[in-house]
Amino acid sequence: MNAVEHYLMNRTSDEPVCAYVYDLNGLRDHAEGLKSSLPSGCRFYYAVKANSDQPILEALEPIVDGFEVASAGEMDKVEAVSEKPMIFGGPSKKNVEIEAAIESGVEYLNVESFHELRRLNFIAEQKGTTVPILVRVNLSENVSNSHLRMSGVPTQFGVDERDIPPFLAEALEMSHVDIAGFHFHAMSNNLDAEAHVAFVRLCLEKSADWRERFGLDARVVDIGGGIGINYWNPDEPFDWDTLAEGLKELDSADVELIIEIGRYMTAACGSYVTEVVDVKRNHGKNFAVIRGGTHHLRLPAAWKMSHPFHVLPVEEWSYPFLRPTVARDEVTIAGELCTPNDVLVRGEYVDELRAGDVVVFEYAGAYAWTISHHEFLSHPKPEIVYIEK
Ligand SMILES: Cc1ncc(COP(=O)(O)O)c(C=O)c1O
Repeated sequence: MNAVEHYLMNRTSDEPVCAYVYDLNGLRDHAEGLKSSLPSGCRFYYAVKANSDQPILEALEPIVDGFEVASAGEMDKVEAVSEKPMIFGGPSKKNVEIEAAIESGVEYLNVESFHELRRLNFIAEQKGTTVPILVRVNLSENVSNSHLRMSGVPTQFGVDERDIPPFLAEALEMSHVDIAGFHFHAMSNNLDAEAHVAFVRLCLEKSADWRERFGLDARVVDIGGGIGINYWNPDEPFDWDTLAEGLKELDSADVELIIEIGRYMTAACGSYVTEVVDVKRNHGKNFAVIRGGTHHLRLPAAWKMSHPFHVLPVEEWSYPFLRPTVARDEVTIAGELCTPNDVLVRGEYVDELRAGDVVVFEYAGAYAWTISHHEFLSHPKPEIVYIEK
């Protein structure tokens, strides 16, 4: 029995089903598998923003080498469950966050601009300390065709590669920052493993070049995350083995490689499980309306896609009148909000979907509940359930 079946079997409420169900054993197995496939020199971090729930962090804590955090809030969440190293990144670090990062002894701070570098050095001087930094680079190259790009295009992230020489020259003059290496997180939801290996090779070449030109002992090369989930065709997932093999070939004693995985770590362990409240036809199209919607699972609205799903038929039907049904046809699955944008599935084929059936949205463990606008319309929140074996 899988985690969702386990949850449904033990559920006692009469209200329509609406829950996030997390399979913690599945998460551990998946994370352990990823870690064991990496070269021994590669450090395996979890990017907390993908899902910062405490049980998720606790499940991953014994497996990962550290955590990537993007706010003082995420730092607190990690500190509540772990003493492992943290890397603190993000383009808008407030002084209070920089101070908190220094006080909690984060392993590295990513530096994203000249002004941030100067502020960091200033705050570290006031605190009488030196801060190890990773220089976050926005490369000149477009490194992938992934969904969101942070490299080779103008963004708020990192230092333009063309400005790296003056940036390093200035940082080297400072006595309260220590350049430990470079940070290259450059893409989100990349599905091309070969392109990812080529990106890592490029990161290593650039870092080696800057190390040599500036006489740096900056051995850390943080390649960020960005490994994708194929929401459009889950049967053709990202080829992790190709990436792991590529990293093994590129592994070298001169470099401390860090990978910070968010989406690919937690997406598969979570399911958003909801009940169909109504099924109807409108202007020639079929609609199923669920309890819940994009205020709980914003990703398909944000990316204008159909979220992968499957139907769990429920045979019980308590009304003395017709059960609305769509059979062997396309259906749009919409939520309970007052906006036509509240759509999770856009015209996908189903054998059968009836009012009262349950729809399971898969790959809902990352950038799902945490990125959604929960308060809109004040509907009750979903149950959040963590299943252990
Ligand atoms: C600096 C940094 N590292 C790692 C990640 C994790 O990326 P992903 O969830 O695509 O693996 C992110 C995501 O935004 C990030 O900003």
